Amino acid sequence: MCGIVAYAGLEKAGPILFDTLKRLEYRGYDSAGIAVRCNGGIEVFKSAGRIADLEKAYKKMGSPGERMGIGHTRWATHGRPSDENAHPHISGDLAIVHNGIIENYLELRDELTALGYEFLSETDSEVLAHLINHNYRSDLSQAVSKAIQVVEGSYAVAVLSARSPYIVCARKDSPLVIGIGQGSNYVASDVPALLPYTRSVARLRDKEMALISAGQVTILDSQGQPRDLDPERIDWDVDAAEKGGYPHFMLKEIHEQPRALSETLAGRISEIEGDVRLDLGMNPWEISTLQRISIVACGTSYHAGLVARYFFPRAVGLPTDVEVASEFHHIQLRPGALLVTISQSGETADTLVALKKAKTCGVRSMAITNVVGSTVTSLVDSNIFTRCGPEIGVAATKTFTGQLAALYLLGIRLGRARNHLMPEEGRKMLAEFSRLPGLVQTVLRKKDQIEEIAKSYARFGSYFFIGRDVLYPIALEGALKMKEIAYIPAEGYAAGELKHGPLALITEGTPVVALATCGKKIQSNMKEVRARGGELIAFATEGDQDIPKIAGTVVELPATRPIYSAVLASVAVQMLAYYTARELGCEIDKPRNLAKSVTVE
Ligand code: F6R
Repeated sequence: MCGIVAYAGLEKAGPILFDTLKRLEYRGYDSAGIAVRCNGGIEVFKSAGRIADLEKAYKKMGSPGERMGIGHTRWATHGRPSDENAHPHISGDLAIVHNGIIENYLELRDELTALGYEFLSETDSEVLAHLINHNYRSDLSQAVSKAIQVVEGSYAVAVLSARSPYIVCARKDSPLVIGIGQGSNYVASDVPALLPYTRSVARLRDKEMALISAGQVTILDSQGQPRDLDPERIDWDVDAAEKGGYPHFMLKEIHEQPRALSETLAGRISEIEGDVRLDLGMNPWEISTLQRISIVACGTSYHAGLVARYFFPRAVGLPTDVEVASEFHHIQLRPGALLVTISQSGETADTLVALKKAKTCGVRSMAITNVVGSTVTSLVDSNIFTRCGPEIGVAATKTFTGQLAALYLLGIRLGRARNHLMPEEGRKMLAEFSRLPGLVQTVLRKKDQIEEIAKSYARFGSYFFIGRDVLYPIALEGALKMKEIAYIPAEGYAAGELKHGPLALITEGTPVVALATCGKKIQSNMKEVRARGGELIAFATEGDQDIPKIAGTVVELPATRPIYSAVLASVAVQMLAYYTARELGCEIDKPRNLAKSVTVE
């Protein structure tokens, strides 16, 4: 998730671009850049690293530039963080900044290379710069309009040209807001960047374009017709605005899951072949001779691995084991194993130590991570990036479901490559997978009901979460979330294990969350709880006739394939933990004693 800004006005553009970019730093921070109009041309300043360092370098050069410019803060998805991959990208006498993913960039890149365009970066965004330049005669807005017609994927883009009187912006499935000032106008990915300058904001709608100059803003609708600006007045403070109006980053990130899932899927599904496009760094022979999959991770990422322990044997046909990284020291891997490390941050010390040990056994290694350029990425043979954008809340939410999505993609790819999964089954799995973002939206709409439940049980003092099959790891995850943000002792159990001990703890009123969307076997375990006076809160498939007869409280979740029910149940338990913590007045985004990235063993 990158941030883009643009400015056209009465003041010098550079300082305003840096200031607005810094206000978007929570969206991404691995590299930054600006392009400003300067002496009839365009000057670009960009580098990997923090915005403040780039700004210092810019000031050292005498802060060049005039009254119009664009800027970008990057969160890498294609290509590592580097000076070349930083935006803006230049083509001819224009520069662009882009947020989103161009899904057909490889085809476009080949076509543009054949036409003589030279690519200087590894990004998907650079194709947009050349494509716009290729279509640019005299009117920049026409060139942008033609270019975006051939682009597949998502974009928010701002284009600056040395010869155009206005900056052109366009968006599809990626946010862009326009700040309307007095003789100065602004563009940003998000409202917080604009608040010190103006509180009058117009939101660009999907497939619209805007022409921005110092004295004028023109919005063209998806048919190319000018429309009223329709500005709204923003009265949030800066802190609330960074959180997009949500009271906590965690809640914002919970709500970002449909989008994060869509981005993680974008451009990776091949519907006709029932397959997934992922470069696993292995040739077909290497894939066919794999003997097992070993997963290593910590905390929430470990729980994602546990879901794959159920999924991989079915989809890939390979035995799969999962180990917490800090206990990996006793594991001896044999060549023929594929080691998959899962780490949101890519910096967790326990995971890195385990990975280094595994590599001494001569196995192939792979990382699933959200951070391009993190330490783990340089230690493995191949990477699968979740495209969730930066996660600020300490408790992992959107990156967890992003990891599940990446594991589903990996399972389908390996299963297809090993001929364990037939094309028809691959197609069915992917078709249902594509529905997941919408199904998550449905779960998010259960907010009021889940909040009510959270309020009712917040003060009981303990919680149980039970599930079977792929929902057992989600029971563990629900309990972890409850512990870390609401400070409530919570236990996650395989539902069948209750009777082997923990049932002794169930007394009158003990809240027990039953994740009941995957098979009927859990019903007998729920009855065991009810018989001891436990209060059952069930997450059940909509229309299930049995569960309401057993549980006092039922939240219905949409029907889906069992494997994907893990994603829907995750969102539900995240919301339950969040509203419980809120009811108890806990410090949700920064729970006590915890850090987002744990870099010690
Ligand atoms: C819990 C949480 C932690 C992390 C764990 C591993 O909400 O976030 O349990 O999952 O510290 O971190 P990564 O995934 O960065 O290796």
